[in-house]
Amino acid sequence: MNIYDGMMYPLEKKWLAEKREWLMRYVKGEVLEIGYGTGSNFKFMNTDAIHHITALDTSENDIVRNDLPIHFVTGSVEALPFENDFFDTVIETLVLCSVNELERSISEIARVLKPGGTFVYMDHVLPNDAGLAKAFKVVNPLWSKIANGCQLVRTPKSLFERYNLKIVEGHSVGKGIFDYGIAIKFA
Ligand SMILES: C[S@@+](CC[C@H](N)C(=O)[O-])C[C@H]1O[C@@H](n2cnc3c(N)ncnc32)[C@H](O)[C@@H]1O
Repeated sequence: MNIYDGMMYPLEKKWLAEKREWLMRYVKGEVLEIGYGTGSNFKFMNTDAIHHITALDTSENDIVRNDLPIHFVTGSVEALPFENDFFDTVIETLVLCSVNELERSISEIARVLKPGGTFVYMDHVLPNDAGLAKAFKVVNPLWSKIANGCQLVRTPKSLFERYNLKIVEGHSVGKGIFDYGIAIKFA
């Protein structure tokens, strides 16, 4: 187990793995996963439903999955090197907290997704609970310095509709700290 997976293990066990498994049921066709990291979602993907996966991250990660049709690309979600309306599914889990340009990232995700295509997302967000939200805001400046720019105070889903992404099934877990769900790109 590498360091990231080791640190995430308690959260994965308590909340995230089950949600990933549910999310990956919606993944099909020509797939893009942005910020794949250590490949935590790969093991839940259904190879029968998937034509091809493009996995993009800012740095190369040493992951071998011979049972999946994956093509690894180094790049940034803020400038995706793909045509408009290309993918049936775009996956983003725990990435939008740390991108440099949140709105541009969402706009790029929507651009490369086909009309009617599925955006599968999971993010940690600013919780609705006033007390927790206040604590997140206080801790955020220090946290973002020690955690590679990760922001605790974002709410990416509030921007989805601006880019034609309509949430058809959205959930929250862990006292509102994590949002996850499925959005469809409308034309
Ligand atoms: C917290 S990890 C999440 C990894 C994985 N998606 C998961 O659910 O466990 C964030 C990942 O996003 C990647 N990342 C951060 N900013 C990015 C960007 N602008 N474009 C693409 N990937 C990015 C990081 O390199 C890292 O692998």
